[in-house]
Amino acid sequence: MELKNFFQIFLFVLAGFVVVSAQECGKTGFFIPGNKYDTNRGLILSSLASKVSAQGGFFNDSIGEGTDRVYALGMCIQGAEPDVCSKCIDSASNALLDKCPNQTEGLNWPEVRILCMIRYSNTSFFGSLKAEPPFHIANPADIRYDLTVFDQVLQGLATRMIASATSPSSKRKYYAVDIAPLTSFPSIFALMQCTPDLSLEDCHICLRENVADYESSFRGKQGGISYRSSCVFRWELRPFSEAFRDITLAPPPEEGNVTNTKTKKGSETVSIVIPTTIIVIFLVLLALGFFIYRRRKSCRALVYQGSSTDITFTPSLQFDFKTIEAATKNFSESNKIGQGGFGDVFKAVLNGREVAVKRLSKTSGQGAREFKNEAVLVAKLQHKNLVRLFGFCVEGEEKILVYEFVPNKSLDYFLFDPSIQGQLNWKMRYNIIVGIARGVLYLHQDSLLTIIHRDLKASNILLTANMNPKISDFGLATIFGTEQTRGSTNRIAGTYAYMSPEYAMHGQFSMKSDIYSFGVLVLEIISGKKNSGIYQMDETTTAGNLVTYAWRLWINGSPLELVDPAITRNYQSNEVTRCIHIALLCIQENPDDRPLLSDIILMLGSNTNTLPVPCLPGFLQRSRHELVHVSEGLESNEST
Ligand SMILES: *[C@@H]1O[C@H](CO)[C@@H](O)[C@H](O)[C@H]1NC(C)=O
Ligand SMILES: *[C@@H]1O[C@H](CO)[C@@H](O)[C@H](O)[C@H]1NC(C)=O
Ligand SMILES: *[C@@H]1O[C@H](CO)[C@@H](O)[C@H](O)[C@H]1NC(C)=O
Ligand SMILES: *[C@@H]1O[C@H](CO)[C@@H](O)[C@H](O)[C@H]1NC(C)=O
Repeated sequence: MELKNFFQIFLFVLAGFVVVSAQECGKTGFFIPGNKYDTNRGLILSSLASKVSAQGGFFNDSIGEGTDRVYALGMCIQGAEPDVCSKCIDSASNALLDKCPNQTEGLNWPEVRILCMIRYSNTSFFGSLKAEPPFHIANPADIRYDLTVFDQVLQGLATRMIASATSPSSKRKYYAVDIAPLTSFPSIFALMQCTPDLSLEDCHICLRENVADYESSFRGKQGGISYRSSCVFRWELRPFSEAFRDITLAPPPEEGNVTNTKTKKGSETVSIVIPTTIIVIFLVLLALGFFIYRRRKSCRALVYQGSSTDITFTPSLQFDFKTIEAATKNFSESNKIGQGGFGDVFKAVLNGREVAVKRLSKTSGQGAREFKNEAVLVAKLQHKNLVRLFGFCVEGEEKILVYEFVPNKSLDYFLFDPSIQGQLNWKMRYNIIVGIARGVLYLHQDSLLTIIHRDLKASNILLTANMNPKISDFGLATIFGTEQTRGSTNRIAGTYAYMSPEYAMHGQFSMKSDIYSFGVLVLEIISGKKNSGIYQMDETTTAGNLVTYAWRLWINGSPLELVDPAITRNYQSNEVTRCIHIALLCIQENPDDRPLLSDIILMLGSNTNTLPVPCLPGFLQRSRHELVHVSEGLESNEST
């Protein structure tokens, strides 16, 4: 214990870390040490460690009667291992007994890794939120990044996290951990948690207050922690908790202009010099550290690791070709789960995790370095409605992308098969529409990179076991090389059905061309029909596709005829009508008339706002012959 503290203080001095405490003793009530209250407090605090870990991370209780009654609660961060949890609570209790010898209230968030907290009082505080000044720890290092952009990303991240932490369907109560990428900087890593005794509203308030502290206390810093009695929020430019291991691979250090061999040599020499230097510095600083430790003993020092370079947690994104070859049984047919325009997809198990390996066809004209850079960028994009890129492999001619494995096939598999399309009820379809919208919103507007997908289609929407949608193949156009994508008629034509007129005719892509594809996708999800399908209409329109069909029904005032008969009548007609309306806005001929994804999300979320009247969809006024011609026969190219 003592030795560990020395070491922490040593680190502190070495790297300019700050030492602080997140303990508080009440300032109003006192008891006489050794009295009944004191005994009860000792009893309940010492029992917390085993109770909390046995109860899955949270426990509240009280002991004693009248003025001697002590209320206490302990919480471990969601997902903490029982023994780690128990240890944390145990040392937090001991520290608090030490720190608050005669105070009737006390609180301790002992670890800046945000592992656990305990609290006690002579009055019941369970389920109530205390108005109180927060406890702040700012990372002392300043940030060198455009602050207006940074603010936006952080606020966006925090807002999403609060929503997820306070979502009633969240698996881990009042807990969220997430990462938001920045373009030329490490990502922002953030974690938040409320104590589970709070109500949903109170948790929301508590987290919002903690997040709002950013503006006043942490702006311009590389990280910060905001504690209140019932909730905590921490963010950093590096992973500061085990929790991030579950959701991401840390981004690798920015690629400089240094070649690999040079870096290796450099680090070898450094590693020989450093040990001797360190020993000397260590001895000098040990004395200094001891001095500081003495001075701060009453605070039971905590170490705040403010540096943004965390060497212990940077698994590489790059995989070895041999490893992948072995994991896919040499790209065997039995492991193959799909093929697409960019290459074949194989299922594999890497490091004990199921993954989908996409082996890009060898014709990619892009250099290894550009490929890597793009892959690293795309790997930073993380959203629950996007298929995650775990890493890549580039060796000789081979370019491989390693993705998260999504178990439930793709949307087209369910949607267009009359024998199973009934499995997708309206609620699921609506959920899928909203999920896709969120994923595209993230790509377009929330991730800083502005990724245009360019190939949104039903076969690129994968479904999880819970039928939640995950968009795949985003960023592929850039990874693969722009020229390659555009130059190949095959690849473009394969998804003609979803292409906006301006993209199809002139190769102009933009967010608005993605939005057109989104509109077509929504129509397909509602109708259970492919856009490329031919429909018999009246004499003037001899043949039309889904887009023209939907438009005619809309004009005739019978949009609900579009709905897939497989859904039967189990849907809310206003919800469906609204989705059709939004889809028609998305597929308007003029790109400027199409709404942005942020508008679409608003439209989806409200049933009171009136929507604009849609104009003629694209393709209606044009000669479709060439388009129809190309779209035929190429649909068969696509599969998951
Ligand atoms: C708790 O302690 C405070 C301060 O000593 C006191 O005012 C209050 O009455 C106590 N509450 C109970 C329930 O004993
Ligand atoms: C509480 O303890 C502190 C130091 O241990 C002492 O200075 C203070 O007088 C005590 N307060 C009461 C009310 O006993
Ligand atoms: C724990 O807190 C809840 C309020 O959130 C309360 O209903 C419950 O009685 C408490 N448990 C104990 C053992 O006091
Ligand atoms: C790498 O160096 C070359 C010239 O040596 C330069 O043109 C290029 O911009 C540099 N790239 C980066 C990422 O610094």
